[in-house]
Amino acid sequence: AFEVELRRTGVSLRVPVDRTLLDVVREAVPGVPFSCEEGMCGTCETKVLDGTPDHRDMLLSDAERAAGSTMMICVGRSVTPRLALDL
Ligand code: FES
Repeated sequence: AFEVELRRTGVSLRVPVDRTLLDVVREAVPGVPFSCEEGMCGTCETKVLDGTPDHRDMLLSDAERAAGSTMMICVGRSVTPRLALDL
């Protein structure tokens, strides 16, 4: 599990191992855009403000992955105990 901080919304939420980041985010931000939920379309791409994302999508380039400033929240998780997103 890890904690996600939605900085614009002003909340922090726990993401348990059996739930996706997108699923947890939707509780606080009901209108968050998503489509495929498989890391393939890019609709859920979200800016990362702090922490290191665990990328599991098929879209980002190696350079984007290494930079860690954006992620697909439908499949991505966190390497660090805390991740801050621009949501
Ligand atoms: Fe398609 Fe996340 S919803 S990449």
